[in-house]
Amino acid sequence: MSKASAVLGCFYGDEGKGRTTDYLAIKAEVSVRATGGNNAGHSIVVNGHKFAMRLIPSGILSNKTIAVIANGVVLNPSVLIGEINMLKEHGIDVDKWLKISDKAHVIFPYHEEMDVYLESKRHHPIGTTKNGIGPTYCDKYERSGIRIEDLYRTDLKERITSRVRAAEKITGEKFDAEKIYEDYKGYAEVLRPYVCDTVTLLHKYLKEDKYMVIEGAQATLLDIDFGSYPYVTSSNPTIGGMLTGTGLSAHDIGDVFGVIKAYSSRVGEGPFVSELKDETGDLIRDLGHEYGTVTGRPRRCGWLDLVTVNYAVMLNGVNYINLNHLDTIGKLPKIKVCVAYEVNGEVTRDFSTNEEFLKAAKPVYEEFEGNFGDISKCKTFEELPLAAQKYVRYIEEYTGTKVALIGTGAERENMIVTIDL
Ligand code: IMO
Ligand code: MG
Repeated sequence: MSKASAVLGCFYGDEGKGRTTDYLAIKAEVSVRATGGNNAGHSIVVNGHKFAMRLIPSGILSNKTIAVIANGVVLNPSVLIGEINMLKEHGIDVDKWLKISDKAHVIFPYHEEMDVYLESKRHHPIGTTKNGIGPTYCDKYERSGIRIEDLYRTDLKERITSRVRAAEKITGEKFDAEKIYEDYKGYAEVLRPYVCDTVTLLHKYLKEDKYMVIEGAQATLLDIDFGSYPYVTSSNPTIGGMLTGTGLSAHDIGDVFGVIKAYSSRVGEGPFVSELKDETGDLIRDLGHEYGTVTGRPRRCGWLDLVTVNYAVMLNGVNYINLNHLDTIGKLPKIKVCVAYEVNGEVTRDFSTNEEFLKAAKPVYEEFEGNFGDISKCKTFEELPLAAQKYVRYIEEYTGTKVALIGTGAERENMIVTIDL
């Protein structure tokens, strides 16, 4: 029986997780999304075309991999249908590959409105993506959510109406329950062929020895439990969420790929110890095209923070690192890496998500030589210039984790692989 590989973000999101899964999809027969919703934006460049994937696992782009949206996902049907149509236009046989869990919770327009409203009333604005992610998970845990399977129930209209009334009470706005019902009945019919019990299906695939990749969305520091609360998303993008979000057991997980960039970025509010609020930060943003895939927001940029990465490696049991944007950081003459925090006069390598700790933490840096030149054609680690090799080796030593994949450019083939997959 085969085991599933998990691909997880080890910072604040946008590490290039889609690229790792897209690469693993060369071998993978099944790719799975376990958590989050269309707050994710995974961009993958295939043959010069940039695909912005928000819900469907990027593995589907290989056009030979089953793509499963599992039970832990919160799903906006209209966004999903848009994505299905976009993929079909590009020749992807979505009808053959896509499976949607009957247990995934559905995002409704009133969730999006509540997201905006609650954010405006919050003591500490988070800078959410306004896609209704938080309110939909609230309904799930409050046990009044509407799941995909409920879209086919005869009492759907009454269910929607009762949720609409509650949302109106909270936001003071009016929602047209009748229209929402009609729209969602339509979406439900479009999605019907893809809906199934994905729990049984995933276990069946493992029994059949199919190689499976779980494509994480968001990232460790955005985790509702282990991230920099309250500046987090409403799900568990860490390893535990890959289990509850799919129905797989701990024994079913094999390799855990932790994805990082050779620098750091964050969108939205919240602490970021190695942030550069200067021209170097601006330069990294421009060189790395660090603007949100979904919102277009400029991302906050800074040096790579290995204290945080080590925390993510520990929490998720990462055994392989995927280091992206090595080419980008190599365009700078000198590169810094945060190797410890100085907190109230004490130097530590131990991370904490405590807000006071993170606010007080000052980065302790090591400096590396940059100017790697064009590394996009390098196919092996040894072909990399020595300065780049040294940078990668340092990350391996610090984290005690093998760097298995190295991103050297935007195209699919700009990737060095140092392990046998
Ligand atoms: P991918 O999968 C980066 C951030 C938002 C906000 C916080 C809460 O592309 O890495 P939410 O809409 O989830 O309630 O917003 O989480 N956030 C992300 N940041 N990448 C993502 O996904 C993110 N998904 C959510 O910016 O700060
Ligand atoms: Mg993204």
